[in-house]
Amino acid sequence: MLLRILTIPVISTATLSLVCVVVLAGRHQADSGCVTTLDAQDALDVVGKRSSEQPMLRREPITPLVGKHDLPRSKVMLGKLLFNDVRLSGNNTLSCASCHNVSEGGDDGRPGSLGIDGQIGGLNAPTVLNSSLSIAQFWDGRAKDLYEQAPGPIHNPIEMGSNWDEVISKLNRDHDFVQEFRSVYPGGITADSIVDAIVAYEFALVTVDSPFDLYLKGDDDALSSDALDGYRLFKSAGCISCHQGQLVGGNMFQTFGVMKDFDDRFDASSELSNGRLNVTQRESDLHRFKIPSLRNVQLTAPYFHDGGTASLEEAIRIMAEFQLGESFSDKEIARIRAFLVSLTGQVEEDLR
Ligand code: HEC
Ligand code: HEC
Repeated sequence: MLLRILTIPVISTATLSLVCVVVLAGRHQADSGCVTTLDAQDALDVVGKRSSEQPMLRREPITPLVGKHDLPRSKVMLGKLLFNDVRLSGNNTLSCASCHNVSEGGDDGRPGSLGIDGQIGGLNAPTVLNSSLSIAQFWDGRAKDLYEQAPGPIHNPIEMGSNWDEVISKLNRDHDFVQEFRSVYPGGITADSIVDAIVAYEFALVTVDSPFDLYLKGDDDALSSDALDGYRLFKSAGCISCHQGQLVGGNMFQTFGVMKDFDDRFDASSELSNGRLNVTQRESDLHRFKIPSLRNVQLTAPYFHDGGTASLEEAIRIMAEFQLGESFSDKEIARIRAFLVSLTGQVEEDLR
């Protein structure tokens, strides 16, 4: 019965996405009208669970990722300096880059991040790469954009453990830095200008030219046959109903554990497991998280909000089981992995 329920959207998702890929492969604009919306019945079919609280699952296909080009370079480079500046932390030991290493996937490769004085956080650090393009920031989406996000870690007592007064007075003691800062922001060092520069840098951290982007733009040789098979399976199995759009994710919130119980995998009693409920206080948002972008996912192990899953193969297996009620063979997992690996793009060299 379950399989039958899931079969209906499977066919239409695949058909729709293929149509769009054909259009894209013909080098037409990315916004060529491929976007559509599922009706209520389809949404129900895809998530396989009846709940009026579930948002519609939009069946938006994957489009190539295009970088932003209109950012003032001086701001971006000042933002890079600040992102790497340990003076943003209380005891001058941590910068944003300590937990978001831009040359290695934009995360820290640890289950929980190592904050000030060796404190370990309970949530996995997501990548900052392409984060400007997602629907909201943090696993629970509590910051609506990067401007709202940036002050968070600076003030968080288990991350950077500082505050604006401290940071601004430290930076103001560095004469050369003040001059450099003023050449970009004549008003000098303020909380707003620090955030603005960091965000400009983050806007520039868009990873382009992944093999999959090249394929979408018409290069038929950009993908291996395994990656292409994996892409087809990703669509036909229904992963794309959640991981979709240019980020292959990042554009909505969904419950972990659609087809299996959350606590078969995570500690449901932990506050960190609440997800979006922490923001909305709605019971229906319990265990609901921002769907991560799968761009560069090869570089961002370990996986899931608790960072408790070390390998990408294992993450794919868990997703198939918990979100789709599917059990993939090793070969199928290897193909999906090959597709996901093809989503690894390039960060501009000067920005690393
Ligand atoms: C001690 C490690 C640590 C430091 C230092 C740190 N972060 Fe993070 N960052 C995290 C963790 C952990 C999360 C996820 C927290 C959550 O979702 O509640 C996160 C989330 C983010 C996100 C949201 C990404 C997404 O997809 O939701 C952005 C953007 C970000 N950090 C940027 C920064 C910036 C800018 C700085 C410096 C001002 C910084 N971080 C400093 C660990 C860190
Ligand atoms: C119903 C929506 C939904 C479906 C369908 C779905 N996912 Fe996910 N995916 C999520 C959510 C939500 C998370 C974050 C869960 C968490 O961390 O607790 C996630 C996380 C992941 C991650 C970990 C990413 C990271 O950075 O930690 C991978 C990999 C992944 N999904 C791959 C897949 C694959 C492959 C499929 C198809 C077999 C799939 N997903 C189907 C919603 C979905």
